[in-house]
Amino acid sequence: MDVGSPHLASGALRRLDGRVAIVTGGSRGIGGAISKALAIDGAVVAVVGIPADRERTSVLQASLNGSAHLVEFHEANVADYQACETAVQSILEKHGHIDILVNNAGITKDRTARKMSVEEWQAVIDVNLSGPFFMIKAVLDHMIERQYGRIVNISSVVGHMGNFGQANYAAAKAGLLGLTKTLAIETAKSGITVNAVAPGFIATEMVAAMPQAAIDIAKSRTPVDRLGDPNEIARAVRFLVDEESGFITGTTFDVNGGMYM
Ligand SMILES: NC(=O)c1ccc[n+]([C@@H]2O[C@H](COP(=O)([O-])OP(=O)(O)OC[C@H]3O[C@@H](n4cnc5c(N)ncnc54)[C@H](O)[C@@H]3O)[C@@H](O)[C@H]2O)c1
Repeated sequence: MDVGSPHLASGALRRLDGRVAIVTGGSRGIGGAISKALAIDGAVVAVVGIPADRERTSVLQASLNGSAHLVEFHEANVADYQACETAVQSILEKHGHIDILVNNAGITKDRTARKMSVEEWQAVIDVNLSGPFFMIKAVLDHMIERQYGRIVNISSVVGHMGNFGQANYAAAKAGLLGLTKTLAIETAKSGITVNAVAPGFIATEMVAAMPQAAIDIAKSRTPVDRLGDPNEIARAVRFLVDEESGFITGTTFDVNGGMYM
């Protein structure tokens, strides 16, 4: 951005008015908090998700009570490249441009490596690693043409540390960090930043599905001594997608209560 911008002088983060953002799986949990944060700051938010996300997106939009711009739903399983491309095309047709992509959709299928089926391995890699690549691929030509883009990949502390019973998830989340760095290098000259956010354990339905003993262990390994709140991840994403964050690329923003430093 221009060094002489009046927005810098004000010290405030620039509102996202006029920006169009995609948030995959953006109807609940961390994605829901991200959609809300971006919409309240003025962005049009396209939630790209599976059928279960449709109704939740309507509820999210209603909860904003007219205080924000549009939050709308576009159906696509991110593990299906054609579906990603179709969703991106329909968002482009409707809004004319896409400025922000947050790859948030993710699943778990936990089991020790000995017991993990090939299908369980593949399903998590497909959604958590191929999904972000497919979405990036679907928006990339457009962002390069416009010479502007903000891409954030939601990784995990587990991508840094590994975790018992999560070989598929840890591999996907670590792979996402390599994808982030490579894309950052490839797109840096095109006004596009690509960063990762690596949450610790956050109070969402994904974590609620874990055995209580595993949640207690996660908490005990978190110096801040609690689970994180989805809004605490959304704050980090909001910072990275700002136009003024253009000199930050290829990095991983750890938001984990001190669990991994
Ligand atoms: N909750 C945590 O503690 C935690 C920690 C680190 C990282 N993360 C990551 O944050 C992201 C969000 O996690 P969450 O806890 O909010 O999970 P969640 O299960 O509450 O939400 C995931 C969202 O992704 C959508 N989704 C699932 N499969 C999809 C697919 N194939 N295509 C499109 N959308 C799909 C779901 O419908 C849902 O809306 C995930 O990538 C997760 O791995 C979560």
